[in-house]
Amino acid sequence: MKNVLSWILIVFLTVSLLNNCFSNSVRKETKERISFLARLRELYSSGDSSKWPKPVLDPEARPYFSDIGHLPDIQFPKDNPYSEDKALLGKTLFYDPRLSKSDQIACASCHDPELGWCDNRTFSFGHNRQLGTRNAMSILNVAYARTLFWDGRAASLEEQSEMPIRDEREMNGHIDLAAGKIAKIKGYELLFERAFGDKTVSKDRIAKAIAAFERTVRSGTSRFDQFIDGNAAVFSDDELMGLHLFRTKAQCMNCHSSGYFSNNQFENVGTSLLGSKEEDPGRYLVTKNPADAGKFRVPGLREVTRTGPWMHNGSMKTLTEVIRFYSRGNPEHSQKRTTIHEGITLTSEKSGFVRLLELTDEEIAQLEAFLHTLSSKPETVIPPALPQ
Ligand code: HEC
Ligand code: HEC
Repeated sequence: MKNVLSWILIVFLTVSLLNNCFSNSVRKETKERISFLARLRELYSSGDSSKWPKPVLDPEARPYFSDIGHLPDIQFPKDNPYSEDKALLGKTLFYDPRLSKSDQIACASCHDPELGWCDNRTFSFGHNRQLGTRNAMSILNVAYARTLFWDGRAASLEEQSEMPIRDEREMNGHIDLAAGKIAKIKGYELLFERAFGDKTVSKDRIAKAIAAFERTVRSGTSRFDQFIDGNAAVFSDDELMGLHLFRTKAQCMNCHSSGYFSNNQFENVGTSLLGSKEEDPGRYLVTKNPADAGKFRVPGLREVTRTGPWMHNGSMKTLTEVIRFYSRGNPEHSQKRTTIHEGITLTSEKSGFVRLLELTDEEIAQLEAFLHTLSSKPETVIPPALPQ
């Protein structure tokens, strides 16, 4: 009996000793984690980005890299300077369905401010409800894009604006016809006169006014901006960790860098589905260089929570799905990597910057929490009165 009792005592003492050691180490770990987070918070919200931890970058990414931060001021080109009157004319044209052949479809039909300046559809529908093959891009912060469209086929906003007017699946018209229709609308005379000095309507003026308006569509201050300016309390620990992961372990900044969260380069992240019915050779269609097959313009990530579904084909319905895809190193199905396009064999070669990241579920959630801090409060946009 005595023996049994002493055994019980020994077991009890051992267990409580082990337990004590274990909880001590957990406590130590928790303490270390808390002080690591406090230190990160202090550095990132110091108001001085030179104090931030060093980013994890590939050497090949450096030439196009500048750290994430605030959006710089908008630059207007010399041959199309800003004026309030020009932007108002541009906004009016942007909302005017008379630029389309059917008088039914305006730029704002697919780029709706209430839907993050895109349409939140997988593919847009335009003339006669025909579906396009690409996901509508938001025009928010488009002033910072160096080329336009997923494949960069337009070099400036001035050049871009006539493309949807002409596209038979979008507005199905012609810029000359559209300009002719606008010239017949009396109410436009004053708007053109104020914007350009006289009431002449030309396609060049239409393009310039729309472009000037689009450049003004810019994000307001996001929580990310407030945090890096020194407002340390606006980020939760998860958002803070997400920011740190974005700059380090997850290596997103190899491509999504600068205040615009894009380096404006073309990259292949394994989304082109070459060889399937849904294939899109992307940048190749513009350059005809086989090395560009499957590359798309790196999109900026400000406001990204408002612009889903995501990717050039709207194939990803949640941001978790996007981040999981990156975490797995963007696997491409071997049968969806090669195609014969107009007699040329094209093979998708994924960028060396995308690789197996093996992020934990917690890290994936933290990255997503961070992406949410990049959205600003949507502004209320009042549609302009259409001139008669
Ligand atoms: C039927 C829907 C539709 C209409 C109408 C439409 N767009 Fe778009 N817009 C799109 C789609 C889809 C894309 C992406 C196409 C691509 O990359 O090939 C796009 C891309 C853009 C881009 C490029 C953004 C970037 O970041 O590169 C701009 C700018 C733009 N549209 C402006 C306009 C203007 C201006 C008009 C009116 C003259 C207009 N859009 C009419 C669907 C539309
Ligand atoms: C190799 C360059 C590269 C890296 C690294 C990269 N991205 Fe991307 N990202 C792209 C390109 C290119 C696209 C557009 C692909 C497409 O449309 O098919 C994209 C698209 C996205 C989109 C969808 C945006 C939209 O408007 O549809 C999100 C969100 C995104 N990336 C987040 C991330 C995150 C988070 C990381 C880090 C885990 C990351 N990216 C790493 C190049 C990159």
